[in-house]
Amino acid sequence: MLELGEVSIYLDHNATTPVHPAAADAVAETLRSQFGNASSVHAYGQAAKAALDDARGSVAALVGGEPSEIVFTSGGTEADNLAIRGGAEAAPAERRHLIASAIEHEAVLHTLKALAARGWRTTLLPVDSRGVVDPAELERALTPETALVSVMHANNEIGTLQPIAELARVAHAGGVRFHVDAVQSAGKVPLDVRALGVDLLSVSGHKFNGPKGAGALWLRRGARVVATMTGGRQERNRRAGTENVPAIVGLGVAARVAKEQLESTAEGCRALRDRLEAGILDRVPGTVVNGAPDARVPNTTSIGFDGVEAEALLIALDLEGIAVSTGSACSSGTLEPSHVLRAMGFPPRRVQSSIRFSVGLGNTGAEIDHVLGVLPEIVSRLRALAGTGAGARA
Ligand SMILES: Cc1ncc(COP(=O)(O)O)c(C=O)c1O
Repeated sequence: MLELGEVSIYLDHNATTPVHPAAADAVAETLRSQFGNASSVHAYGQAAKAALDDARGSVAALVGGEPSEIVFTSGGTEADNLAIRGGAEAAPAERRHLIASAIEHEAVLHTLKALAARGWRTTLLPVDSRGVVDPAELERALTPETALVSVMHANNEIGTLQPIAELARVAHAGGVRFHVDAVQSAGKVPLDVRALGVDLLSVSGHKFNGPKGAGALWLRRGARVVATMTGGRQERNRRAGTENVPAIVGLGVAARVAKEQLESTAEGCRALRDRLEAGILDRVPGTVVNGAPDARVPNTTSIGFDGVEAEALLIALDLEGIAVSTGSACSSGTLEPSHVLRAMGFPPRRVQSSIRFSVGLGNTGAEIDHVLGVLPEIVSRLRALAGTGAGARA
C-alpha cells in the first residue's frame, strides 16, 4: 500500500484515474462470482457472456454506437493497434500510406513507425501553435494510396480538441477511412460516433475511472479490420483470447457512470481547472497556458513556468504531496522533451518548463487552493536556485 503523507493531491488524471467505487465493487463481485468463460455453452459461460453483453451496451452508449460494433481490448494501446494495424492490413493492397497527426500518443506514433519499418509510407500532419490540425493539411496529405487516417480527439498533454468531424469528412471525400483515438475525451466531453462521422474509435477504461486492462475499439458496422490477436473466435473474430470479464464489467460500469454524470463531471472539472489555471496565471509571474484555451477538454491545463525546469517542479510538488506530470506518463519517465509542445513550435525553453495539471474524480476546491498556496513559493525557490530570476520576463 502506498504510504502518502498528510497532503495527497492527485492532479494527474490524464495519466490514469482512481477507480469509481461502483466500478471497483462490480470488479470485485465479478471476480468472486463470475469465473465462467464467456465462450462456454453451459450456464457459467452464459452468465459471463451476459455480463459482457451488459458492458458492451454501456460502452456503446458512451460513444453513441451499437453494441455489436464494440470490440473489447486490453486498453487504449491495443485499441489503437487494432485500428491502425488491422485497418491498414484490411485496406486494398495498393494502399500503403498512413496519415496521423504529429501530436498523437505513442500508441499511434510508434505503431506507424513499426509499419514504416515494414514498408508503409507515413505522413505526420503538423499542428498550429494552439495544437490544432488544419483540415486543409489533411487534404494536401491524402493520396490515392492512403489506407487510413488517425487523429486523436483530445490531446493527452494539452487537452486540445481536434475538429474530428471536419477531418473525417475530408478523409472520406478522398475515399479513406478515419480512426480517432478518443482515449482522452471519453467521459470528458459527449461522444457520438455518428455525428463525428468516423469509422473507428478507441477508448480506455482506466482514463474514465474504470480498471486498467480493459478498453474498446468501436468499429462502424462494415468497417473491416484484420485481427492483430489471432486465436479463438471471441469478439466476432476481431480479437481472440478469453475475455477479462471482471475488468470489462468494471469498464462497463465506469462507462455507464461516465455517461450518466457527464455534464456534472465536466462542469465540476472545468470549475476546478479554471480556478487552478487563473490562480497560477495570477499568482505566479512568468506563466503561460499551452494549447487552445477555447477548444479543450474541461479537466486539463498545460502551463509553462518561465525559467523553471519542469522535472524539478514536478519533484518539488511531489515532495509537497502534489502529483502532476510533465506530459504523457510514458515520455515523462524518459526525460524526452514533449513531441507535442515541440510540434506546436515552442522553443526548447518553453517545452522544458511545462507542467500538465489534470483534475478529476475526488478533487476539491480546497485542494486547488492548497496548490495555489504553495506553488508561488516553490517556483520562486526553483528560479532562485537556477539563477533565472522571478519570471522577470513576465
Ligand atoms: C491519447 C492516448 N491514447 C492512448 C493511450 C494508451 O492507453 P492505455 O494506457 O489504455 O494503453 C493513452 C494513455 O495515456 C492516451 O493518452
